[in-house]
Amino acid sequence: MKLTQEEQKILDGDQGETMAKIMKTVVEFGDVFGAKKLIPVTHEGHLVTSFGIGLIKPLFRIMDEIISAGITSKVKFTVDPRPIDYVNVKCSPLNKLIFSKIMYSQQKRYEQQLKKIGLRNENDFTCTCYLDEVNNIPKYGDILCWAESSAVVYANSVLGARCNRNSGMLDIFSCILGKVPEFGLLTDEGRKADYIIEVKTSTIPEAQVLGSAIGLKVMEDVPYVVGLDKFLGDKLDDKTKSYLKDFGAATASNGAVGLYHIENLTPEAVKFGKKLIKDNAKIYVIDDAELERVKNSYPVLWKKPNKKAELAFIGCPHLSYLQLVSWANNIIDKLKANGRKRVKVRTILTTSPQVREKFSKTELFKELGKTGVKISCICPLMYTNNPLAGKHRIATCSNKLRTYSSSRYYIDEEMLNLIC
Ligand code: F3S
Repeated sequence: MKLTQEEQKILDGDQGETMAKIMKTVVEFGDVFGAKKLIPVTHEGHLVTSFGIGLIKPLFRIMDEIISAGITSKVKFTVDPRPIDYVNVKCSPLNKLIFSKIMYSQQKRYEQQLKKIGLRNENDFTCTCYLDEVNNIPKYGDILCWAESSAVVYANSVLGARCNRNSGMLDIFSCILGKVPEFGLLTDEGRKADYIIEVKTSTIPEAQVLGSAIGLKVMEDVPYVVGLDKFLGDKLDDKTKSYLKDFGAATASNGAVGLYHIENLTPEAVKFGKKLIKDNAKIYVIDDAELERVKNSYPVLWKKPNKKAELAFIGCPHLSYLQLVSWANNIIDKLKANGRKRVKVRTILTTSPQVREKFSKTELFKELGKTGVKISCICPLMYTNNPLAGKHRIATCSNKLRTYSSSRYYIDEEMLNLIC
């Protein structure tokens, strides 16, 4: 990689040993991917590592080294959700012990470190930093250094910003330098589509299953989706953005998609149309039968699959305000229709602290509380990611949570029936 004089000086140690190591790491990362140069980051960061897992000692050591060297990040950042919330997601004493003393034993220390280096605000723990209430919203063409896969795919596809699927630590190092290596999704060529996806379903496809089908097929390639605008229209309103949030998270976790284009809808597809498609692009047709096939292929990892769920998580990625209101209304209405007052299964809706705060001021919040449903701001995956959780029967309508845990997947309608 060719460095500017200033970058070379940092690499040579002009700004101290720690900055030199940070620069060396970012440069070597770029070299691996054939980057020719570093380019400036033009918007706030977002970090994937939000959890103080005691085992990842090098992370805390590196953070301490950065702080001792007096280094702060060039751009402020938001962070993925916290792992625990004992008030709204109650745990058994044994679970609590495992979380507090073993798994997330470094949580307080790590959050202090984040604040010292450049956390934007102490409430900024969510994977949906790009929603209005959280307001870490990149503009079209902004260069980012994010790593959270669901946020990267949203920023690239729905906002038209430019970001690679970086790993944890690379995101913070690039925030500190204010530079990222230019390769992959930061280049015009890297944003062209390798696949044409033809959506030929009879009704609007479930976002999480459609995203899953595409992710499993294209893996890390860029898909150009035709036929979906028939259902979604050509406006990026809140409803469509919520749909694309969940769709994208499924493409990014069931596969490794960092960018998708939706014909007539997402900004680059609107601007460039079919010019975005590579000459030799492959074609994948998705109809009702294909979606059914994909959904039926998900393994059920519960030890006793015929027994009812013990816990339901809704909101991975975190629910938008619109989705939270819609789930609350649907649950209340369904319970009324079934002659019930409270949900049958312990249910947690997860959303950002900012959306929760807004929702907590409404009458609907109080009404929902009476049904037994809780609203939390944790990452459900961090909750399920412990040796005891695997024993419980957890239901989810998130294809990302299904993929990374032993939770069982249900489409939204099935989930509503199950909990009510
Ligand atoms: Fe967000 Fe955690 Fe799901 S970071 S996307 S809630 S796995």
